Amino acid sequence: KEVVHFFDTDSTNNEAKKLAADGAVEGTIVVSEAQNSGRGRLSRGFFSPASKGIWLSVILRPSFAPQHASKCTLVTAVAVTKAIEKFTGIRCGIKWPNDIFYEGKKLVGILTEMNAEMDAVNYIVIGIGINVNIAQAEFPEELQRIATSLQAISGNAIERKELLSQVLVELESAYLEILKNGFLHILNEWKTYSITLGQAVNVIGIDQTFSGIAKDIDEDGALLVETENGVERVLAGDVSIRP
Ligand code: BTN
Repeated sequence: KEVVHFFDTDSTNNEAKKLAADGAVEGTIVVSEAQNSGRGRLSRGFFSPASKGIWLSVILRPSFAPQHASKCTLVTAVAVTKAIEKFTGIRCGIKWPNDIFYEGKKLVGILTEMNAEMDAVNYIVIGIGINVNIAQAEFPEELQRIATSLQAISGNAIERKELLSQVLVELESAYLEILKNGFLHILNEWKTYSITLGQAVNVIGIDQTFSGIAKDIDEDGALLVETENGVERVLAGDVSIRP
């Protein structure tokens, strides 16, 4: 397996997609010290300053059907949360589908992109951004109150390389588990880390906006929200927890 390292790039997900299109093998990873156009979900940017985080993309070529790909995002969130807990002792929570939070602030973002033809996955790129050694004051104004880092939480600088290897160990074991036994076990683990379930939420979907109580996730990883008009199933979109 190959590790591709950059000092600067636009986005490790973009680099990984190019490598995957050129035939890179499953398990190839791309890391960069900095990203000058890091991307988040829903066309947002992602703050990725030099040498202060883990900006990582992983190429997978699973044999399962494309509709299972969105669950890889939940699986990744569980793996990264576990790696952080093992390596630093900090227990974070997961906001559906895949943001990792600590005390109301975002610590990790995950962006999964897929290329599929017909009924087969060609490749999946899982992009993971972990805020590691960013001092609270270094976040841009608009992120000050909504983002945090492991250093800001623990007061200590964290060894990025070792955390990265712990993340890769957890990812590999989670991936092998879903290939062997399916998603059920890890979806159940996801529930134990969830900060969304049981909460009042606002959902901004693709063509509708509504509020309700987040009740559960189903076997596809979709969020089930109880509303005045019955249970809505949310597969994509922006879910905010109401204060
Ligand atoms: C989100 O918070 O909406 C997802 C953020 C994902 C950020 C990671 S950093 C590595 C990879 N490259 C990108 O451009 N984005 C992902």
